[in-house]
Amino acid sequence: MENVDGIVARALEAFSAAQDPAALENAKARYLGRGGELTSLLKSLGTLAPEARRSAGQAINEAKAQLEAALDARRGALADAKLASRLAEESLDVTLPGRGRGRGSLHPVIRSWARVESIFRSIGFDVADGPEIESDWYNFTALNQPENHPARSMHDTFYVELNDAQGTPLLLRTHTSPMQVRYARMHRPPIKVIAPGRTYRVDSDATHSPMFHQVEGLWIDEDISFADLKGVYTDFLRRFFETDELEVRFRPSFFPFTEPSAEIDMRFDSGPLEGRWLEISGSGQVHPSVIRNFGLDPERYIGFAFGSGLERLTMLRYGIDDLRLFFDGDLRFLRQFA
Ligand code: DAH
Repeated sequence: MENVDGIVARALEAFSAAQDPAALENAKARYLGRGGELTSLLKSLGTLAPEARRSAGQAINEAKAQLEAALDARRGALADAKLASRLAEESLDVTLPGRGRGRGSLHPVIRSWARVESIFRSIGFDVADGPEIESDWYNFTALNQPENHPARSMHDTFYVELNDAQGTPLLLRTHTSPMQVRYARMHRPPIKVIAPGRTYRVDSDATHSPMFHQVEGLWIDEDISFADLKGVYTDFLRRFFETDELEVRFRPSFFPFTEPSAEIDMRFDSGPLEGRWLEISGSGQVHPSVIRNFGLDPERYIGFAFGSGLERLTMLRYGIDDLRLFFDGDLRFLRQFA
């Protein structure tokens, strides 16, 4: 049947001309689809005489099988070609230098944190960690700041819309001082600990950030005095800043949880900050009511506490003048500490 051979020849040509699966499927539709040429021919069989119909039918079915086989073969060939070109494109040149991942480094504040830990560990302090979501009792009340105490308003607090199991309000701790109470209630004197960590206040400018870091220090025994505080803290500062040319002074201040209380100032005897008194830490002799909240007898136990800002220590160590740089994530800044 002339007609069938012609269709087959054109279909085979169209299949092999198709350069991608979409073109091939279009060609298939043109010949084998519902309105395709071969299909139409099949539909017209009814108009032929019975004898002719049989042989024409057979020829069409053979043609159909031939085209389907050709179609499958072309589909396979196109898929192979696609894979081959992808493999060629994605070929791996093992002689190229590796891209690497870039090496991370410690954040400058975390460096200070580690430094502070190692200095205090070396003189026998334990290092403690505690919750950043703290109860009102540990953060304020136990530290001699009962409800409505005016000193509470010095801390612009983030309260959490939840109470703890005892119904006490929860908040993001405004300082690391609650760790004094938590640690002291779990250990027997001598108590000698630092507690570094994150703290939170509603505060934001060049020298304040809503999240910042503090390190709390506490030394309680039967005979720990202000002289011990002075010795320990001065030694700490000299080691932290790696210089002995540094003076320390204690300026009377107020904290509800210490009596007497002092602000610790330091002054470098050389370098860019030479001669300027710089505020570095709060401190004091732990208040008898707080000692009682430790579960200890204030007639017997006495000692000191301090709370210092890790950002502040870091800024002075590296000469950084804007605290926000610590939290911008700018690699040009961070790389300097790598
Ligand atoms: N918690 C105080 C603050 O955040 C700092 C402080 C002062 C801690 C005196 C102390 C201390 O342990 O004795 O401002």
